[in-house]
Amino acid sequence: MNAIGVFDSGYGGLTVLKEIVKGLPQYDYVYLGDNARAPYGNRSFETVYQYTLQAVKWFFDQGCPLVVLACNTASAKALRTIQQNDLPSLAPNNRVLGVIRPTTEVMGHYTQTKHIGILATSGTVSSESYVIESEKFFPEVKVHQQACPLWVPIIENGEAQTEGARFFIKKYVDQLKAQSSEIDTVLLACTHYPLIFDQIQNELPAGTKLLSQGSIVAGSLADYLNRHPEMECRLSQSGARQFYTTDDPGDFNRHASLFYGEGVGAGHVDLTRAIH
Ligand code: DGL
Repeated sequence: MNAIGVFDSGYGGLTVLKEIVKGLPQYDYVYLGDNARAPYGNRSFETVYQYTLQAVKWFFDQGCPLVVLACNTASAKALRTIQQNDLPSLAPNNRVLGVIRPTTEVMGHYTQTKHIGILATSGTVSSESYVIESEKFFPEVKVHQQACPLWVPIIENGEAQTEGARFFIKKYVDQLKAQSSEIDTVLLACTHYPLIFDQIQNELPAGTKLLSQGSIVAGSLADYLNRHPEMECRLSQSGARQFYTTDDPGDFNRHASLFYGEGVGAGHVDLTRAIH
């Protein structure tokens, strides 16, 4: 099987995979969540890079010629180094794509006021990736970033619908709003956040456009495959989906449907043993 690999620190990438399979159901997919080491958001550049590289090598070992890092933190902290330093020696004909570039290519189209708010993990915010990439495509747009360090742990622990969650959702959204009253578009720049989409929307001023990445990344992948027939023809097309987690598969299966929209049966992977 030459599947498309989809990676996240945990469950969040399933919100992206869900949209990708909606648009491109014919391909085979292997999903890996590094739940045992999630969240990545507060970890150092070096650690996120090492963990992500281990995952990419694992995908290549499974026969995946194309890997999507469906994780903003990994895209911000590891993607470029993997593309530039590791891929040429590891597997020069394979490709690793992220979620930040496809998002920044289009997000400027949604704002009238030219002020966009970014809600993300601390790691994604401190990397400044959204500010730097957005500047390339929409130099007239001002990007306001807000780190939301507690949201991923709250979501990963199944606490998203509690009073405590509501407090921290309001707290970070209020901090973003305090940065500028001109923000008319807010991007969920973490693949976990679609699970609290409605609660975030409720804290934003009426009429604010709230964007999730799933459909944006799915559209961009379809476009990539159209433009790269040499990659497209390597991908197997039997509609298979496989799921793996570095933590307990039973836990993964119980939580995954919330993110993916249907039940999954995951296998276990130990990435620390798969190091080359
Ligand atoms: N879904 C990941 C992202 O998009 C979560 C990061 C984390 O593990 O903290 O950034």
